[in-house]
Amino acid sequence: GLPPRVTIYEVGPRDGLQNESAVVPVEVKAEFIDRLADAGLTTLEATSFVHPKWVPQLADAADLLDRLDRRAGVDYPVLVPNERGLDRALQSGVEHVAIFASATETFAGKNLNRTLDEQFAMFEPVVTRALAEGLRVRGYVSMAFGDPWEGPVDPEQVAGVGRRLVEMGCWQLSLGDTIGTGTAGHVDAVVDACVAGGVPVAALAVHFHDTYGQALANTLAALRRGVTTVDASAGGLGGCPYAESATGNLATEDLVWMLDGLGVEHGADLHKLVDTSVWMAAQLGRPSPSRVVRALAG
Ligand code: HMG
Ligand code: MG
Repeated sequence: GLPPRVTIYEVGPRDGLQNESAVVPVEVKAEFIDRLADAGLTTLEATSFVHPKWVPQLADAADLLDRLDRRAGVDYPVLVPNERGLDRALQSGVEHVAIFASATETFAGKNLNRTLDEQFAMFEPVVTRALAEGLRVRGYVSMAFGDPWEGPVDPEQVAGVGRRLVEMGCWQLSLGDTIGTGTAGHVDAVVDACVAGGVPVAALAVHFHDTYGQALANTLAALRRGVTTVDASAGGLGGCPYAESATGNLATEDLVWMLDGLGVEHGADLHKLVDTSVWMAAQLGRPSPSRVVRALAG
């Protein structure tokens, strides 16, 4: 069966914009986020408090959060890799942060400048302090399916990294197919390994990149396994600057089209999303890669 309702965890402002070569003005980012809230999305990953030299596109994180008209009932999580990031996020008054672990040794080095084990030492004080401050902490596992340097990733390895994040205190675990190579059977295997490893399915989210056109099929597989939180990016923006072959995330509009067809509730207004993505594409100077945006925008 399928869940009656899914939570869309929108990552466009963060995962989408972190990979744009164009510098997007902070007021455009703020308007993007406002429009996504107007379209009914209630979880909007706003930005990252990472090192500004590592991701210059999001160097305006504090300014952006100052400008946001943060609404009751809307959650604005931000990425933080370390205590310095947490300090900055706390100064901006955030209520929800996300740490991002790698399932592989190579990507831990490329994305975090740490070994696989060192990344946990970096995250541990972040989670402890964030929880003490009353924040919620999401944990990502990147390269949860394939890694451009190491190839396919063992589901047991992913489950092990995920379990450590949950034991640390993450309330939710997002399984990231950073480079989009995963397929539906692989999704079953990774979800099953996590659940067998002690992570409840209710704590799982899925985060697919559509590089190989598998994101919707993979999402359906995850829904059939009982996953009820799906990460998506308006207009299919996105990628990861430290994983060469990563392209856009699953487009929120493509997800909504599928959920509507399946009769699964989500709370978003498809036409407002499409209008927003068409507007954002004009800001970026290139068309949205989302099939649904292209179909509906005519
Ligand atoms: P490092 O160079 O090892 O940092 O980078 P460090 O701890 O050695 O510190 C060096 C200097 O940087 C220090 O300054 C720190 O204060 C400063 P100094 O004392 O020399 O003057 N610094 C900071 N400044 C501002 N904000 C900070 C910060 N941290 C240190 N947060 C670090 C380590 C983790 C910081 C770096 O590797 C980094 O920022 N990485 C982030 C990379 C990133 O954002 N990648 C994209 C997100 S992950 C993703 O997209 C995947 C995902 O979507 C899921 C999926 O698709 O699978 C989530
Ligand atoms: Mg991503």
